[in-house]
Amino acid sequence: MDNNLEKLNAAIAATKLIQDGMIVGLGTGSTVAFFLEALAERIRQEKLHIIGVTTSSKTELSARQLGIDMMDIDDVPVIDITVDGADEVDHNMNGIKGGGAAFLMEKIVAKNSKRVVWIVDSQKIHDNLGSMPLPVEVVPFGSGKLIAEFKRSHLYPTLRKDNGVPVITDMGHYIVDLALKRIDQPYELEKYLDGQIGVVEHGLFLDVADEIIIGTIDGVRRLISEA
Ligand code: 5RP
Repeated sequence: MDNNLEKLNAAIAATKLIQDGMIVGLGTGSTVAFFLEALAERIRQEKLHIIGVTTSSKTELSARQLGIDMMDIDDVPVIDITVDGADEVDHNMNGIKGGGAAFLMEKIVAKNSKRVVWIVDSQKIHDNLGSMPLPVEVVPFGSGKLIAEFKRSHLYPTLRKDNGVPVITDMGHYIVDLALKRIDQPYELEKYLDGQIGVVEHGLFLDVADEIIIGTIDGVRRLISEA
């Protein structure tokens, strides 16, 4: 199914949350691409003063090409709101990110944002996380040993490759995808992964999103955190 209309509707709804003078974290992915275009249009039409903070080299390039002013995360006092996509979302508003290999920067930007909004199409909503492989960003040195450890722990790891060559993230690391199929204990898994030497970050985003805008064919639905 072509879900571009759902992505577009979610993206347009998110642009309405942006106010003049805001510093905005800009996520990565095809849904965010719609958001960047809609945001750039609003900036042009309403002459808004918006500063973007990137989550990937790809988004940095697209945002600059669209005329959005960008600053380094370390040069802004605080990020008012971050708008990002997600690969999977459950009913507790937890998610998996990293299909686009940008989740390390995405998580750093999210953790430094006052508000995190995800924009997703309706196919991203699942009862349980894990139907897509969980990405883990790892240091290349010793990654074979870490993959062996993941195998011993029955996490079904695969080193992500492109044309037979390991994918290198913007931060210079490898990605290992864990084909878990279903994650029943996300917090335990998070603790395990956080404790592994050589793991830089993982794509489990637990208790990160404040609002999730789910695009539908004719509008949006919203999940809003009560925390
Ligand atoms: C990149 C991500 C993206 O947000 C995620 O992959 C969703 O992408 P898309 O909007 O193209 O479905 O986490 O690291």
